[in-house]
Amino acid sequence: MSGAVASRLRAVIGRVREARPAGLDPQAVLGALPVPIVVLDTDNRFRFVNHAAEQFLGASAPHLAQLTLADLLPTDSPVFLLIEQVRAQDASVAGHDLTLESPRLSKQGISVHAAPLAEEPGAVVLAFQDVSAVRALDRQLAFRGAARSVTGMAAILAHEVKNPLSGIRGAAQLLESTVAPADRELAVLIRDEADRIRALVDRMEMFGEKPIARSAVNIHRVLEHVRKVAQSGFAPATRFQELYDPSLPPVWGNRDQLVQVVLNLVKNAAEAVADLPGGEIVLATGFQHGMRVALRGSASRVDLPLYVAIRDNGPGIPEDIRPHLFDPFVSTKASGSGLGLALVAKIVGDHGGLIEVDSRPGRTEFRLHLPVMAEDDPSC
Ligand SMILES: Nc1ncnc2c1ncn2[C@@H]1O[C@H](COP(=O)(O)OP(=O)(O)O)[C@@H](O)[C@H]1O
Ligand SMILES: [Mg+2]
Repeated sequence: MSGAVASRLRAVIGRVREARPAGLDPQAVLGALPVPIVVLDTDNRFRFVNHAAEQFLGASAPHLAQLTLADLLPTDSPVFLLIEQVRAQDASVAGHDLTLESPRLSKQGISVHAAPLAEEPGAVVLAFQDVSAVRALDRQLAFRGAARSVTGMAAILAHEVKNPLSGIRGAAQLLESTVAPADRELAVLIRDEADRIRALVDRMEMFGEKPIARSAVNIHRVLEHVRKVAQSGFAPATRFQELYDPSLPPVWGNRDQLVQVVLNLVKNAAEAVADLPGGEIVLATGFQHGMRVALRGSASRVDLPLYVAIRDNGPGIPEDIRPHLFDPFVSTKASGSGLGLALVAKIVGDHGGLIEVDSRPGRTEFRLHLPVMAEDDPSC
């Protein structure tokens, strides 16, 4: 971080020097920088502040010209220590993670770089950098990493839970047939709950790394199947429109997993339009030429000419979750698991496919790009 700022400063100083012969105003160059920069004279008066520094210090340049640094910061602030060091050693110093606290200023996690000004003995240049935002981003990335490792954990957990669970279930079943009728209800409850955990574990296990068994899959039959499940189950009142290209070749994939993908997407679409009069889901397929992607870790490219679109006219995906949409446990629903899209992304990835999202109020489309079965490919 400090290296980056120092080199940026050097670059700016270089630009300022170069600028002179060309008639450019060095102050304009410094003013354009987004890094807060101030120059203090020997008495710590503000000799120069750029625009970013005005914002950072919460005061205008003419106002700051009347002040010294001691008017903004308490004299025991670590910034004064840095300034003294610069003057004593005639060299640049930096302080990190400083708190700038005064009645006028309240900032945490600030890096301050201080340097002497060769042409003016005693003058010091200060550059401030707010790293708290960078840290917040780091935390977010760490969280996303953790979310990803959940997929590995899920596989282990699923494996470890299944064995004792089948023991519990078997014991409960045995009790059902031997205990007094009054207690039978409890045994049934144990069995039912064990079944519920088993179903959950099965779902988690789908995140594990397993090679998929592929064959030629008619994607229209998959879509048709999901539409029927939806209309006879979770979306009886929703209108469906099917726009299929009947000439499409089969997809090279796993039928059950592709059903799962389409089901998760249609379920989300149905939930998005559930309270909407005129709510509609469009299922569409087609050819999109020129859709070629590089395979991970390989120089070769695959064609993904076939697309499947699932579109709804609901309110759209909330802005704040879009960057993490496919991460596990991201949900805006009261009883949502947040696993639906994570599983979609996993399965599509396992198929060597791609998923795209385009969402705005009134139109949300998830578009899958899938590999087709090549007639002349002996591995198919
Ligand atoms: N078609 C859609 N329209 C609006 N929001 C959607 C749509 N699909 C997904 N979302 C948003 O993405 C979130 C994550 O979806 P998902 O992973 O399936 O989890 P869940 O459905 O359990 O919440 C949903 O909670 C919702 O906010
Ligand atoms: Mg869902």
